[in-house]
Amino acid sequence: MSNNKINKSSEWTALEQHAKTQDGVTLNTLFEQDPGRCNDFTIKHESVVFDYSKQRITKETRDLLIALARASNLEEKRHQMFSGAAINASENRPALHTALRGSANQDITFEGRKISDEIKNTYDEMLRIYNDLRSNDKIKAIVNIGIGGSDLGPKMVCHALKSYADERFHIEFLSNIDPVDISEIFKKYAPEETAFIICSKSFGTQETIANAITARTWAQNALDENWATHFYAITGQRDKAINFGVPKDHLLPLPDWVGGRYSLWGSIGLSILCAVGQKNFEAFLCGARVMDEHFKTADLSENIPVMMALTGIWNINFLGLTSKAVLPYASHLHFFPPYIQQMDMESNGKSVDINGDTLDYATGPVIFGETGTNGQHAFYQLLHQGTKIIPCDFIAFIKNETSFDDQHDKLLTNALGQARALMTGKNDKDEPHRNFDGNRPSSTILLNELSPYALGQLISMYEHQIFVQGAVWNINSFDQWGVELGKKLADNILNAMKNSSDNQRQTLDSSTLALLDTILSLK
Ligand code: F6P
Repeated sequence: MSNNKINKSSEWTALEQHAKTQDGVTLNTLFEQDPGRCNDFTIKHESVVFDYSKQRITKETRDLLIALARASNLEEKRHQMFSGAAINASENRPALHTALRGSANQDITFEGRKISDEIKNTYDEMLRIYNDLRSNDKIKAIVNIGIGGSDLGPKMVCHALKSYADERFHIEFLSNIDPVDISEIFKKYAPEETAFIICSKSFGTQETIANAITARTWAQNALDENWATHFYAITGQRDKAINFGVPKDHLLPLPDWVGGRYSLWGSIGLSILCAVGQKNFEAFLCGARVMDEHFKTADLSENIPVMMALTGIWNINFLGLTSKAVLPYASHLHFFPPYIQQMDMESNGKSVDINGDTLDYATGPVIFGETGTNGQHAFYQLLHQGTKIIPCDFIAFIKNETSFDDQHDKLLTNALGQARALMTGKNDKDEPHRNFDGNRPSSTILLNELSPYALGQLISMYEHQIFVQGAVWNINSFDQWGVELGKKLADNILNAMKNSSDNQRQTLDSSTLALLDTILSLK
């Protein structure tokens, strides 16, 4: 690259020029010109099928995108991630979630300790706690208290793998600070039958600590000094958890080399282990490991995460399509869109590059989604006829765990039908409200069944897609400074709320102050 900024590279300029030549070329034209197009734009790996033929790209686009990826040193950056380089530059840490499933270099050390030893020790401890909980006949409910990465991943997986759960425990997730949520838990279970896992890397997140304190009071009132035997913690701040009262043999570490939103493969996955058991948990890790291997070794043009990422870059940076809908056609993937939303938007919602220079090109997309077919009856109107074009990821599973095959066929054909309608559109000059412009891009990810193994593959695909985009944009996908300011200001306003003479009141803008005073006067 002649200039540090990727958008000043000749590869970027070539894509800009190419995008101009593609103006007016529709998906319908591309399929007419090459009816077998899906063969050239589908990648298969084991039972995963990634069909991106309904993206507005040609073979030339793909070549140019791959050249762009190479110009951004993608392959070198990928090697750095797997080998434990401190790619999270603002916090001087590696991002080694892949090590948790056995995919990173086994010799990596962090602060003098071999991480493969740490991973094994932690997994042994997870199994010990899991077996202790199972053998405690009194415990019926496990409540995971955590938020963001300490909630969304395990909650999504426990829900996704419901068919693999053995019913031993009711697994609940408590994240919001809204007290209605914890009061629902208290209505459902008795203190003596409930175990709480406090998940917080920092052991300082307001929502998590507030819920944990309320849970502790509830347990103390009912169980006296026995309350602590019902509390576990997964944290990078061991001392804070011990101060809270969690017994030392109920603690699991959450190391600095794993980001919260990438942490479900390790100790944060304790609730997943409790839900689906050791065999299924290990199959889940194995699926991710196999996808890691594909990501590490497949040619860029035959590499699913790479092509997912590059089609996204084409849409965002060269076609100006800066949102994406994630649409799983599986009810059990109900929490998949919000999980991917955090993973993608917290990772790549950045406007400075790795060196701190302000970017003048778009980065991470706005992600939203819903399971099919529910989403069809909510926001697909806009997807089909709105003024914004929103690329979609359709995710579907060939097999279903029920015997209601006919209903499952309808689910699957809805996914295919929606993707096809977005692409082909339908001309209606007489009744413009019935006109569909079409030419709306999507990719389809097809998997055999929603098993622990396939779910591991699917998540790993998205993790690496996000990594590749961050690598091309030259941003740090592993920090999240953007969440700090709002938290701090909420703390300041809380002080002002509790103390009318607080200096913070003087610093508040008139809108915030008026809203606060209205709340105070009507409370
Ligand atoms: O929302 C910001 C964030 O820091 C996320 O990155 C993280 O997953 C979440 O808060 C929870 O943090 P912790 O695990 O430290 O409680």
